[in-house]
Amino acid sequence: MAFNNNFLEDIRSRADIVEVVSDYVKLELKGKNYTGLCPFHQEKTPSFTVNREKQLYYCFGCGAGGDIFNFLMEIENLPFYEAAKVLAERFGVPIPEYNNYSSSRKLDEMRDQLFAIHEWTTRYYQYLLMDHPRGQAAREYFEKRGFTRATIEKFRLGYAPQAWTALFHFLKKKGYSDYLLENSGLVLPSKQRNNYRNSKDFADFYDRFRDRAMFTIFNLRGQPIGFGGRVMSSDQSPKYLNSSETEIFIKNQNLYGLNFARDAIRQTHQAIIVEGYTDVITAHQHGVENVIASLGTSLTENQARLLARYAEEVYIAYDADTAGQSATLRGLDILKNEGLLVKVVQLPDSTDPDELIREGGAEKFHSLLQNYVSLIDFKLGEVIKNHDIDNPEGKVRAVQELLPLFLSIDNEIEKDYLLNQISDKVKTSRLAVERELEQFIKEKSKNKDKENKNWHTIEEKNKLQKGSDDAFEARFLSAIVKNPGMFPQIFASISSDCFRNPDYKLVVEQIYLYYLNRQNDTEGSNFPSLTTSELVESIAQERAKKLILELLFKYQEVDVTENFIKEGLNKIKEYQKTMEMGTIIQEIREIGSQGSLKDLNQTLIRYHCLLHHDSGKGGC
Ligand code: CTP
Ligand code: MN
Repeated sequence: MAFNNNFLEDIRSRADIVEVVSDYVKLELKGKNYTGLCPFHQEKTPSFTVNREKQLYYCFGCGAGGDIFNFLMEIENLPFYEAAKVLAERFGVPIPEYNNYSSSRKLDEMRDQLFAIHEWTTRYYQYLLMDHPRGQAAREYFEKRGFTRATIEKFRLGYAPQAWTALFHFLKKKGYSDYLLENSGLVLPSKQRNNYRNSKDFADFYDRFRDRAMFTIFNLRGQPIGFGGRVMSSDQSPKYLNSSETEIFIKNQNLYGLNFARDAIRQTHQAIIVEGYTDVITAHQHGVENVIASLGTSLTENQARLLARYAEEVYIAYDADTAGQSATLRGLDILKNEGLLVKVVQLPDSTDPDELIREGGAEKFHSLLQNYVSLIDFKLGEVIKNHDIDNPEGKVRAVQELLPLFLSIDNEIEKDYLLNQISDKVKTSRLAVERELEQFIKEKSKNKDKENKNWHTIEEKNKLQKGSDDAFEARFLSAIVKNPGMFPQIFASISSDCFRNPDYKLVVEQIYLYYLNRQNDTEGSNFPSLTTSELVESIAQERAKKLILELLFKYQEVDVTENFIKEGLNKIKEYQKTMEMGTIIQEIREIGSQGSLKDLNQTLIRYHCLLHHDSGKGGC
């Protein structure tokens, strides 16, 4: 971690998780906890819980949880160091100079510099567009497209000049190293550098964007992180040239315009996804503000998850000719799988939202949105379109292609609807479709059985082993994590092997590792001051962290007295003893059949010791 501990502790002691979460979630105090609707998944009844005392949050619905840093990282899509900075600024904690040269620090610094390089570049392109004679053609181009001055400023549009090294020299003068510039992706290493070695124009790098109208791509906080450059005459190609991926521009995690659209999406719970830069900009200019672009039609899981934080429904308003392509359809399934209600808007042939809104205004666009079809109807339509329904073979093939649609339906009414639709559209009897479906499901489950056979038996075995012990272990463990001050006492007498449930074993292992590190750092002196949220923050293993949060929130009513922990320790040691005796009995059996008398004798002595006092090894 790049920051030192005092800084993080300062933040922890001054920041309040309830205050921060309240910016995003309407919280209500219920007993010891605040609850509200989870911002990380779709829900109608609140299972998102925040505990002020522990400074932790946890969602009983989706398992999201952590401390104030985790919350901010998740909800704003920030790396740790950025979240820490935001919190420090908000709660008035001075941000320290870095105190060690770790590799993560170098990466943080590089990101900061890449942000700065992109900011300079944006200003440079903006200046050329607005205030320089060379920007004339680009100014006219954007004007012709109907963008107002206010829009051009808001979206920070620009112009990249017709020159090979203009940006490169501009950034060099700002003092950035070749290494950083190359990593910004804004300049590219010259291939023919030797040919030019003697010319006065020689440079090791050349500008990626030349003579293009520039669209700036922002992150969620509105910082420029990349660009798309469009040619201004139709005889050049490619039409759009985009930034490459960099440390600050990860394409599959970015949605164009989300920084401007986020509030509107939160308020309406709806997002409109379009394809391109110009669609977004024109929509926003006309007051339709919940519009974002995927910049390409195949959406990724990361993008869908990002969107699902703010939206419940998405309207897909892609160009008429791309909506039905298979990459598009995959993207729509990804949205659905993230819990979003997908509505597909069918635009008139060879138009896009940019054109429609410019011609018909926001009203026309809104009325088109209202004519959406559901995802399932849309897919149905696409399949029907591709087959000759009037001939029997076409019918058979269409039905075969449509049957998989039932797999994503778990509602009888929807199923009934789809059966009717298929028989109607394919022009065949409903009974025939039902029979085909039965056959299809049978085949599917046969294959599935094969796949799952092994898995089932293991799962069942696990279930048998689980007893009421699980509940006890959980309660006991929740008591432990609530009392980091007792770690020395606890770890003096038990280890992770004392726990039967593999999940809890993992948790104890992770806490133990943390305990050891912490002990090295502090020589055990200030354990009582350790807080639970610090513990949660320090557990690097994701699964263990989730489990700890679950334990904390599920068993928060458990009263932690010294006695409870002592009894717990005894019970757990007892269990350990039974396990050991079991192993010894097994050993005795094996020795009995083939071993020596001496071995048998020693094993019997161990058994005897175990039976009559606390195992010879001093605990388990
Ligand atoms: N795109 C791209 N590279 C291309 C073509 C398109 O990256 N060679 C991306 C751009 O992000 C573009 C989006 O796909 O905005 C949609 O493409 P298209 O519909 O062709 O462009 P429009 O946004 O409609 O732009 P314009 O109105 O200027 O034609
Ligand atoms: Mn388009």
